[in-house]
Amino acid sequence: MTTTAMKQRSLLGLKDLDAAEIESILDRAAYWEQQAVKLNPVLQGKFVANMFFENSTRTRFSFEMAQKRLGAEVMNFAAAASSVEKGESIYDTVKTLESMGIDAGVIRLKPIGMLAEIAENVKVPLINAGDGNNEHPTQALLDLYTMRKQFGSLKGLNVSIIGDIQHSRVARSNLWALRKFGANVNFCAPDSMRASDLDASYISMDEAIRADVVMMLRVQLERHAGSVMNSAEAYREGYGLTIERAKQLASHAIIMHPAPVNRDVEIDSELVEHPQSRIFPQMSNGVPIRMAVMERALS
Ligand code: NCD
Repeated sequence: MTTTAMKQRSLLGLKDLDAAEIESILDRAAYWEQQAVKLNPVLQGKFVANMFFENSTRTRFSFEMAQKRLGAEVMNFAAAASSVEKGESIYDTVKTLESMGIDAGVIRLKPIGMLAEIAENVKVPLINAGDGNNEHPTQALLDLYTMRKQFGSLKGLNVSIIGDIQHSRVARSNLWALRKFGANVNFCAPDSMRASDLDASYISMDEAIRADVVMMLRVQLERHAGSVMNSAEAYREGYGLTIERAKQLASHAIIMHPAPVNRDVEIDSELVEHPQSRIFPQMSNGVPIRMAVMERALS
């Protein structure tokens, strides 16, 4: 494969993908979602490594589910059980797996900017499963898919993204992708969680909950220096989707959250499985989305 062809099969982010390309992934996911048969081995004989240098439940398992449903050979790499513990770098780890003959790699890592550097130096397609607070393209794809399924079109859709914007790769990928389709994206966050690098408008919580899509973000406790949990109740008061606030949602509106959820912090526990919530359907949609992404990378 030429380097250009390989790069076109990689998925490092949505910022640089055009709307037509994103749409073709969503359409292909719809095709996969409709298949009654669980196993469609179009990737038989392909070896895929899932390289997670940061914890994950949904993303890792739904990639594995997608890969197995397409008949790929799947290898899972967890940093905690590897030579990373001996000090081996992420770069050397990826080059190691590449040397052994993987056909594609799915990767999640923390250090900012490292993914682009690795992608420059490997010859197999790479799929970003979340890099620091930069991008999480497959999450945003499944989010767009969920919205499109609900509303038919993304054009003119009002989407509020509420919470820890600064640390959120989900917010960034969604912002960049949704705008390509003419959706109106607004953020809502306390000052300490705003992202100075993003050009987007911030609205009040009262306004934010009147949108068509109310997307809550997890307060990223592991990325804050301790002070947040003490004031979880204050956060809930100011920025949580409480039962009280949920009464003001439009009847056609949907609640989203990439999960994991901090119940009773950014969203009240009773709302997680509310009829207007799409939190678990988002997870279901992640499988056909990742089938489409793996197929695009490998076939
Ligand atoms: C998100 C992530 O890891 O970026 N989770 C996910 O992949 N569904 C959001 C989060 O951790 O809050």
